[in-house]
Amino acid sequence: MKHLVLIGLMGAGKTTVGRLCAQKLDRDFVDTDDVVIALAGGAPVEEIFAVGGEKHFRELERSAIADIAASPAPLVIACGGGTAVDAQNRRRLQRSGVVVWLQAPVAVLAERVGNGATRPLLAGGPLAALTRLEAAREAAYEAAADVTIDTEDRDVEAVADAVAAAFAGFEP
Ligand code: S3P
Repeated sequence: MKHLVLIGLMGAGKTTVGRLCAQKLDRDFVDTDDVVIALAGGAPVEEIFAVGGEKHFRELERSAIADIAASPAPLVIACGGGTAVDAQNRRRLQRSGVVVWLQAPVAVLAERVGNGATRPLLAGGPLAALTRLEAAREAAYEAAADVTIDTEDRDVEAVADAVAAAFAGFEP
C-alpha cells in the first residue's frame, strides 16, 4: 500500500486536507515540517531559516523525506511547499506514494496564508512571493504529481473527498 502524498504551494491546504484524509483512510498523518522541526531539536521553521538559512532547512527536509517515505506503514503525508522541488525528494515520494498536487490560483493562496508570519519565504509579501514561487515550481509539481486537484471553490471536506476518490483509483 502506498502513501498518500500531498504537494503544492503554501496555502494549498495540504495540512488540513491531509489530516482529514488520514481520518477517512484510517492512517497516520505526517507533516514534513513537523519532522524537520523535530530534526532541528524543536526549533520552529522561522528559526531554522534564520540560523542556518534555507540551505540548512532543505537539508533537514531531505532527510525528513527519506525517513517518512521509508515508513512501512502507509501514511498520509503533507509536504512543505518546497519539498517537491528537489529531484531526490520527488523520486522518493513518487516511488513510495501516490502524489496529489493541490492547486489554487495564487490570489486564493495569498488570502489563505494571511500575513504569512510563520513562513519565511513569504516575508516580502505573500502575493508577490507566491507568484514568484509558482512560476519557479510549477514544472516540478507537475513532474511529481500523479493527479491534480483544484481546491479553489471547494471547502476542505470536499477537497478531502476528491483526494480520497482520486487516491482510490491508484490503490490495487
Ligand atoms: C515552504 C513551505 C512551508 C515550509 C517552509 C518553506 C516552501 O510549508 O516548509 O516555510 O518552500 O514553500 P507549507 O507549504 O506547509 O506552508
